[in-house]
Amino acid sequence: MKIAILGGTGNEGFGLGFRWAVAGHEIIIGSRLAEKGASAAAEMLAKLPAGTSVSGTDNLSATQQAEVVVLSVPYSAQEKTLETVKEALAGKLLVTVVVPLGEKAARVWRLPSGLSAAEEAQAQIGDSARVVAAFQNISAHHLTDLTHGIDCDVLICGEKGTDKELVAQLCADAGMRGVNAGPLANASVVEGLTAVLIGINIRHKIKNAGIRITGISHQG
Ligand SMILES: NC(=O)c1ccc[n+]([C@@H]2O[C@H](COP(=O)([O-])OP(=O)(O)OC[C@H]3O[C@@H](n4cnc5c(N)ncnc54)[C@H](OP(=O)(O)O)[C@@H]3O)[C@@H](O)[C@H]2O)c1
Repeated sequence: MKIAILGGTGNEGFGLGFRWAVAGHEIIIGSRLAEKGASAAAEMLAKLPAGTSVSGTDNLSATQQAEVVVLSVPYSAQEKTLETVKEALAGKLLVTVVVPLGEKAARVWRLPSGLSAAEEAQAQIGDSARVVAAFQNISAHHLTDLTHGIDCDVLICGEKGTDKELVAQLCADAGMRGVNAGPLANASVVEGLTAVLIGINIRHKIKNAGIRITGISHQG
């Protein structure tokens, strides 16, 4: 599958792209600057086995080329990033990993506007594209280290079951279990958990606290 990662020059998007490239997906790293995207792609390719497909360009070209688009920018950059790609997103699936963390204390949860960042994204781009929220609780820390398993489930929020199934497959391709966590309205809970995990990381001096859903079999 052709996957564009807007802001894939940052740790989270780069790490997810790396794992998907290993699984055989075609990765297009998006950036505000095409050269920065291309240079991140060269960096990723250098870490990957031969035969993997990674390219880099600006966010709009990446969106135009992809079947699935991943939004991986800071919350403060979400609105202006989406504005640049809004039209090109029509008919596509937008997977957002964005967490609207407090600027002063990332370990304390604040809902930005009464809506989750994912619902804000859906409201901004309109109904022509579908938003699914996922990977908010996955620390970037070990994503580029394939010897390290990711000890965390992925909670997936969205409206359409088929979209969530596709994202669950992307979770599996990246070595994680995806769990259907209900409609997009539930994304605020998942985004908020990230603040809790960051606080746990700080208190335990670690970088990869995660969550596990118990009581269900392999796929949720
Ligand atoms: N890091 C983690 O462990 C982690 C875990 C779970 C969720 N998340 C969430 O995933 C998202 C990405 O995290 P990250 O750590 O990869 O973020 P990041 O490195 O701070 O930013 C990712 C990319 O976003 C673009 N960007 C940064 N500031 C921008 C601005 N002011 N305007 C427009 N674009 C800007 C940059 O790309 P260009 O300069 O190339 O355009 C940057 O490389 C965030 O919403 C974060 O909360 C992160």
